[in-house]
Amino acid sequence: MLVSAKEMLEKARDGKYAVGQFNINNLEWSKAVLQAAQELNSPVILGVSEGAGKYMTGYKTVSAMVKAMIEEMNITVPVALHLDHGSYDGCYKCIEAGFSSIMFDGSHYPIEENVEKTTELVKVCKEKGMSIEAEVGSIGGEEDGVVGMGECADPNECKQVADLGVTMLAAGIGNIHGKYPADWAGLSFETLAAIKDKVGDMPLVLHGGTGIPEDQIKKAISLGVAKINVNTECQLTFAEGTRKYIEAGKDLEGKGFDPRKLLAPGTEAIKTTVKEKMELFGSVGKA
Ligand code: 13P
Repeated sequence: MLVSAKEMLEKARDGKYAVGQFNINNLEWSKAVLQAAQELNSPVILGVSEGAGKYMTGYKTVSAMVKAMIEEMNITVPVALHLDHGSYDGCYKCIEAGFSSIMFDGSHYPIEENVEKTTELVKVCKEKGMSIEAEVGSIGGEEDGVVGMGECADPNECKQVADLGVTMLAAGIGNIHGKYPADWAGLSFETLAAIKDKVGDMPLVLHGGTGIPEDQIKKAISLGVAKINVNTECQLTFAEGTRKYIEAGKDLEGKGFDPRKLLAPGTEAIKTTVKEKMELFGSVGKA
């Protein structure tokens, strides 16, 4: 059964560890993340971007697939199915499709509009027992080949959005999606501490979990981060596993690749990466 991310994140905040959100793209990805969580007895959040949702033919497919996998794979750890960086319309589609959690990314709207739309979605999520993540201060990353530095959120705006009753808050602290540029200044712990001071108990979310040095991850957790998102690292490890398998060429035998065998090394590689992250975030054994 899917659960809201509320309880797992409050426990993580109190226990000073973080729950990983791993983005999924297909059945293999989902299977790898669920197996890793079950084997390590860790709570987990499956993230679905709007692009991944479209790729998998729509949110209803994703929701039905993940729910069925939880049942068929006998998954007993808490699993939340979460829309990642959702648009306003995307949020409503996922609510309807049976997701247990959404992120409304209103960071590109003026703060008044972000507040207005977030307020409305908070109300709907409360009625449905779902968790909701909001974002303040846009999280940079690669766009058209240009890597933008992550913004630092305004702590007062963070408080304003946290007070709307969201479950968790993603606040920019210099983090970005994808690979970090060589001259990246690192996370701004000064900003993180100032935000924490304003928002109190609100579990904080760190996007861009790929490539942040381990000591910075641990420090961020000690300062109130209770959810960390990882996507790029699983993509890289999946591609590497698949590439090696193709290069080895051993499955050709005149009839092409067996798709199950072809995708197996990449799937195993994702599982290993997810387990490493769960160890680092401290969520092992916390289900
Ligand atoms: P990475 O691309 O750094 O793994 O970040 C993922 C993320 O934050 C998804 O919201």
